[in-house]
Amino acid sequence: MRFFDYRDGALYAEDVPLAVIAEAVGTPVYVYSRATLEHHYKVFKAALGDLKVHICYAVKANTNRAVIATLAALGAGADTVSEGEIRRALHAGVPADGIVFAGVGKTDAELAYAISVGVRQINIESASELARISRLASAQGKVQKVCIRVNPDVGAGGHAKITTGKADNKFGVSFDLAEALYAEANELTGVEPVGLSVHIGSQIIDFTPMEQAYRKLVACVGRLRARGLTVTRLDLGGGLAATYDETVSGPDLVAYGAMVRNVVGDLDIELEFEPGRMIAANAGVLLTRAIVTKDNGGKAFLVVDAAMNDLIRPALYEAYHQMLPVRQAVDHDNLAPLDVVGPVCETGDTFAEQRPMPAIGEGDLIAFMSTGAYGFAMASTYNSRPLAAEVMVSGDQWQVVRPRQTYEEMFGMETLPDWLGPQAEKA
Ligand code: LLP
Repeated sequence: MRFFDYRDGALYAEDVPLAVIAEAVGTPVYVYSRATLEHHYKVFKAALGDLKVHICYAVKANTNRAVIATLAALGAGADTVSEGEIRRALHAGVPADGIVFAGVGKTDAELAYAISVGVRQINIESASELARISRLASAQGKVQKVCIRVNPDVGAGGHAKITTGKADNKFGVSFDLAEALYAEANELTGVEPVGLSVHIGSQIIDFTPMEQAYRKLVACVGRLRARGLTVTRLDLGGGLAATYDETVSGPDLVAYGAMVRNVVGDLDIELEFEPGRMIAANAGVLLTRAIVTKDNGGKAFLVVDAAMNDLIRPALYEAYHQMLPVRQAVDHDNLAPLDVVGPVCETGDTFAEQRPMPAIGEGDLIAFMSTGAYGFAMASTYNSRPLAAEVMVSGDQWQVVRPRQTYEEMFGMETLPDWLGPQAEKA
């Protein structure tokens, strides 16, 4: 579901014409729809119905504080993977006891910070991390709630680079080690083990691998409880797909909820979820303007003013993003193959190859759809291109939620070493 549609031939975000935003803010610009964000959160929560759930939005998908705050206002917690993300979540109004801190390599400084602000839980991914958390928490006179992240040896997802659940992926620990660590954690003074966590991949439509992983987790809870250990939480991760291609239907959330209910049965346990993409992807578009059209080697190219530094998913994962002209083409059924590319000096800076597109001319605006997740969040300044602006729309209102980066902000913090002399500094 998304709230980006044509009205009288013009593409809108909710009740705002995208062309108005592009004129005022320039391009490239990310535009987010509050209604879409809220819709996805509510539909997901409703699908889980009467279960005891805590939904932690995976802020890595879209870290803009306006996005996090929109979800926090609905009661969402946050799934975080760095001190920066914890700080963002707190700034956006997520209470510390709604924040889960996960990640395969957390530094002592990050752990100490997470413990000091009182995060809800830290998901542990190795034996040494358990010992470090206990030591750091004890030093602060605290007892930190922890989950052990298991690697269920079940992988899934839209691309090998985003599969996380296979035994040879870097994430989590085996069930055997998880059980040993849980028992060990129970004896340590600085931690309180509360449950297990899992996350097997991203862009998942078929629930079969998820169900397999969850069943393994439930069996593990049974074994831990049989040893007299208390287990009160299961963190089932994120990973549900978003709709990128309008001709392919997304995951059936009601069926997902039913599957979870069925697997968990009467375990009497609190469930946590970490959806990112499913909430944010369809809530954002990247608006770009065509700079140049050209033919090379018998192919038609459209060079736009967004590039792989603004949206890296096509270059990194061969990801598909629908592209819509902001002014609907008059002859929109007359399509011709087009390579849509950015200005960065790499052939990999390609958004689409031989994509059937209606006629688009220099100066025209195009919306790259479903770029609300892992879009701006993965942006860089490669080729010294400033970070794009971000805008949020709510009904007929819109506001810049992050202005375009200035050149001063981009490189003003760099300093020249003394040996280059004062002359170089001035140059
Ligand atoms: N929880 C954990 C532990 C994760 O590692 C992730 C994502 C999530 C939750 C959220 O997953 P989601 O619901 O968004 O699928 N940059 C890639 C996706 C990387 C996902 C990394 N982990 C992309 O653009 O496709």
